[in-house]
Amino acid sequence: MKRLGMGLVGPGFVGAHHIDAVRRLGFVDVVAVAASSEASARRKADALGVPKAYGSFEDLVADPDIHVVHNTTPNYLHVPVILAAFAQGKHVISDKPLATTVADARLLLDAANQAGVVHAVTFNYRGNPLVQQAREMIAGGELGAVHFIHGAYLQDWLLQATDYSWRLDPEKGGESSAVGDIGSHWCDLVQHVTGQRVVEVLADLTTVVGTRLKPSSSTEAFAQSGDEARESVRVHSEDLATILLRFEDGAKGSVSVGQVCAGHKNGLWFEVNGRRASVRWEQERQNELWIGRRDTANAVLAKDPSLLGPVARGYAHLPGGHQEAWADAFCNVMRDIYDVIAGRRPAHPRPPAFATFEDGYHSACVVDAVLESHRRGAVWCRVGAAVSKATA
Ligand SMILES: NC(=O)c1ccc[n+]([C@@H]2O[C@H](COP(=O)([O-])OP(=O)(O)OC[C@H]3O[C@@H](n4cnc5c(N)ncnc54)[C@H](O)[C@@H]3O)[C@@H](O)[C@H]2O)c1
Repeated sequence: MKRLGMGLVGPGFVGAHHIDAVRRLGFVDVVAVAASSEASARRKADALGVPKAYGSFEDLVADPDIHVVHNTTPNYLHVPVILAAFAQGKHVISDKPLATTVADARLLLDAANQAGVVHAVTFNYRGNPLVQQAREMIAGGELGAVHFIHGAYLQDWLLQATDYSWRLDPEKGGESSAVGDIGSHWCDLVQHVTGQRVVEVLADLTTVVGTRLKPSSSTEAFAQSGDEARESVRVHSEDLATILLRFEDGAKGSVSVGQVCAGHKNGLWFEVNGRRASVRWEQERQNELWIGRRDTANAVLAKDPSLLGPVARGYAHLPGGHQEAWADAFCNVMRDIYDVIAGRRPAHPRPPAFATFEDGYHSACVVDAVLESHRRGAVWCRVGAAVSKATA
């Protein structure tokens, strides 16, 4: 079988997981990483066991041994890195959010279509077997018509004034912080599971920690910073959001998003209520799917390939009782993407589970409508109606 070469730009927190995931596929060679300097690229390449190191993404995308470029840079670099990869005819797997404005996301979607290559955004929670089970149950009519889609994505890693990330700097993360960073995951996930797109939003955004003590050196996501020198900076982007949602087939919804909620580490959960039954999935208890019914007892479906639907079963790789986790779901998404790149027969009868730049563009439109709704005093805003300025 033909082997594929991958190169990764931005070897930080999530970049290491991209590398782990593709190594598990068996037919992908991790060829190179590119970081902001040659020295840091070499350091990262050695730590990750990657042969080549580049001090610039332009050099990495030009490497003829690389067929697929993974982009895991801070958000503001997504446009130049992805455009450079497309210019070399490379397939692109970008981490989310695809871009920080609608105009930039549109630019990238158009460029992807023009390049005629495979394009994907790593909305990785789609890859969990019980997420696919919920999707399969809804598509098969087991829940009946869906009328309510609700949940939350709560974390606490930005609770203290000494917590800092480039995500809080609008020049690097974009105008939105928590909603663009993790609210985008939640919205993508429920749209994927229900097959219904968000069409209108009403949002109330809050900045709980308005002044932060930024370390003078940069820290990677979730990293603890030490006693280094710090400067006091004002933060204007939201770290807490409450959003009402309307979906295209008439379902209503709501989501709470926050990165300042003590005790919540990666607390993503969603519930879908239909006329016949409900399902709820919690990322921190991801091997269980709660099924709610009116006339018979509720149930908790424990992940077990023999109990899952035919599509969802393809996303479970261990027998029942053997827990699967975040990195396994991440790998499932990579497997779907690389199957398409390699032209392999899809492992699953339904369309692959991964998000494309089309989904990344829609996600940017949702975030934009959330910002616009808040700006206008928490009024309903149509997704796609408000278009923010391009940075490119
Ligand atoms: N899918 C997920 O669950 C998930 C999780 C975390 C982050 N992300 C996304 O991944 C991206 C990276 O986030 P992170 O948390 O890994 O950030 P990070 O800060 O830990 O890593 C970013 C890396 O990019 C490098 N970098 C900076 N400038 C560069 C340049 N000019 N050229 C090459 N490399 C450069 C940095 O040195 C760092 O190693 C973001 O877009 C983020 O939203 C997604």
